[in-house]
Amino acid sequence: MDKLEVKHNPRSIINITDLTVEEIDHLIKTANDIIENPEKYQDICAHKKLATLFFEPSTRTRLSFTAAMMELGGNVIGFSEASSSSAAKGESVADTIHIVSLYADIIAMRHPKEGAPLVASEHSEVPVINAGDGGHFHPTQTLTDLLTISRKKGGLNNFTIGFCGDLKFGRTVHSLIEALMRYKGVKFILIAPPELRLPKYMKEKMNAAGAEWKEYEKLEDAMPDLDVLYMTRVQKERFFNEEDYVRLRDSYILTLDKLKPAKKDMIIMHPLPRVNEISVEVDSDPRACYFYQAHCGKYIREALILYLLGLK
Ligand code: CP
Repeated sequence: MDKLEVKHNPRSIINITDLTVEEIDHLIKTANDIIENPEKYQDICAHKKLATLFFEPSTRTRLSFTAAMMELGGNVIGFSEASSSSAAKGESVADTIHIVSLYADIIAMRHPKEGAPLVASEHSEVPVINAGDGGHFHPTQTLTDLLTISRKKGGLNNFTIGFCGDLKFGRTVHSLIEALMRYKGVKFILIAPPELRLPKYMKEKMNAAGAEWKEYEKLEDAMPDLDVLYMTRVQKERFFNEEDYVRLRDSYILTLDKLKPAKKDMIIMHPLPRVNEISVEVDSDPRACYFYQAHCGKYIREALILYLLGLK
C-alpha cells in the first residue's frame, strides 16, 4: 500500500474527562520526573514536530507548549493568529487540520468556537490537544492546576478549594471541578456574586458525584477554611451594565489585608492573565502560587506530548 495513503486513528484530548484518573496520575508522575531529571528527556522527541495552531490569543499556553517541545528535543511549527493562516481566506477548520496533520506529529489548537478542536480531531491523522475552545474546555490548564496542587499540597485528596470570581463562564473552573470530583475528600467552596454563580448543570454533576460544596457571596466568609484559593477574572464583557461590573470586580480584589484570616499554608492560584483581581502586593506573599502554576504548565504539557506520542 502507498505509505502516503495510510490512515491513522490517533488519541486526542479535548476535555479533561478524556483522561482517566490513572492517566492523570501518570502524567503528574512523568512531569515530576522531567522536573527532577530534565536531561533524561532532552532528546526524546528528536525529529518530532508539534504544530501550535492558535486561532485566538495566548501567552502561557502557546509558549509553554513551544518551550515544552523544544525541551524534549523536538521542533515546533504553527501560527499564533488566524489572520496569518488560510483561515483568513475562508478555509475550514477540518481542512486546515487535515493538512497540518500531514506535516506534524501532534497538534495543540486553540479556537474561539466551542467544539472546534473536537471537529479538528475528527479530521486529524495525529493527536489533537485542545488548548482552549471558547468558554468550553481547557484540559491542559486543568492538568497544570492538578500538577500545581499535587506538588504544593502533597496530593490531590482531602483538601478544601475555594473558587472565586466568575464561576459561570470560567472554563478553567468547570474543568478543574470535574477533575477534582474524581478524587477523594475534596470540598468545594464557590464564591461568586449571584450573577456569576456556578451553572446549575455543574452543581448537578457535583451532586451526582457526591461532592461536598457550599456557596458564598463574600470571599472573607470562606477564607479561613481554604487550603487552596483559586481566583478568576471577573469578565467585564459578560455584564449587562458597567456599574454592576465595577461593584463586583472590586469586591473580589485579593489584597494582603483580605488574606489575614487565611491559613498560613493556603496556596493562591489563578490561571492568568489577571486584570486586577489579585493586587500585585500579594505576589510577594509566600502563598502566591500563580507564577509557579504557569511554570508547572510547561512540564505537564511535556508529559502530555510524550504520552500521546507513545514515548512515555
Ligand atoms: N491560562 C491561559 O490559558 O493563559 P493564556 O491565555 O495566556 O494561554
